[in-house]
Amino acid sequence: MVRKIFFTILFLIPFCLMLYYGKETFYIDQQAATQEMYDYHFALVTEEVGNNYWHFIEKGAKQAAEEHNVYLEYVGPKVTDTDERLDTLDRMIAANVDAIITKGMSDPRFRQLVQKAKEHQIPVATIDTDNSGSGRDFYVGTDNFEAGYLAGKTMIEETEGEQKVVAIIGLKDAQNQMERLEGFEEAISQEERIELVAVAESNITELGAADATYQLLKSRSDITAIFGISALDGMGIVQAIDEFQPTTRPYVLAFDILPETLELIEDDKIQATIAQYPEEMGKMAVKEMYQLHQKDQPENIHHTKTGVIKKEDVMNGEVFLKEGE
Ligand code: BGC
Repeated sequence: MVRKIFFTILFLIPFCLMLYYGKETFYIDQQAATQEMYDYHFALVTEEVGNNYWHFIEKGAKQAAEEHNVYLEYVGPKVTDTDERLDTLDRMIAANVDAIITKGMSDPRFRQLVQKAKEHQIPVATIDTDNSGSGRDFYVGTDNFEAGYLAGKTMIEETEGEQKVVAIIGLKDAQNQMERLEGFEEAISQEERIELVAVAESNITELGAADATYQLLKSRSDITAIFGISALDGMGIVQAIDEFQPTTRPYVLAFDILPETLELIEDDKIQATIAQYPEEMGKMAVKEMYQLHQKDQPENIHHTKTGVIKKEDVMNGEVFLKEGE
């Protein structure tokens, strides 16, 4: 009996090893074969793989990639994580991809990695958030200061009387978030009745935004307006208001036009949102990167559109464009 067990184990070990390594080799071969069918291999390094806003960037990028016979790899951390994102960039350089498209970061290691990519002849474009001092080749995305300014102007136009505003910011070390906040502050500085009284972080999650808003509503009774600065903040803000049930609902200004945000606009829970066009960003970044490979130097900065979306611009969960847009 013992002998039988011994020989079974002796047989099973090499069998399992054969299965494991066979599968690995097959996977690597298959990946190499897939890549060989394409002219280029671009990496799109996202802030958060599962984030809906980034899925729109991915969608546009994949569409343009298909048109230009580019293999587009969408990679990054599961949830926002600076070190993991930087490590992913480093891994893509080591993989010797033909181009990297990534959100710009203020961390000093980002600049070093852009330089490293250039030493390996890998062009780098920033998308959604720029870091113009990093040596990247070009930027595609929103003019974030202007978008924040537009939010401030909207708050001025859409509210009356004294306003105590709190801002829920995605991440304080994200340059696009800080630029939006600066733009917003610049706009409201022209209007004495509007004052920004607190800023809290959501860590770009709906739950984080709900927690931050709830704490603020609990700690001060004078809040009349809330500004959510990243894509999931508006939803979290509404969750907290619904739960806290203040006597008067604050005016809510959000960012982005994700379907859930549009639904809340139709339900009168969010009064306005600043639209960005992530799908367009993805498309344009891949297109320009392809042009760069054809020796056609792209412009340094490509700003994509922004706009204000209110209830009258939304129908059945979608933004309908006014004539001329
Ligand atoms: C920002 C992105 C961010 C996302 C988070 C968007 O408004 O432009 O930088 O990753 O929100 O949900």
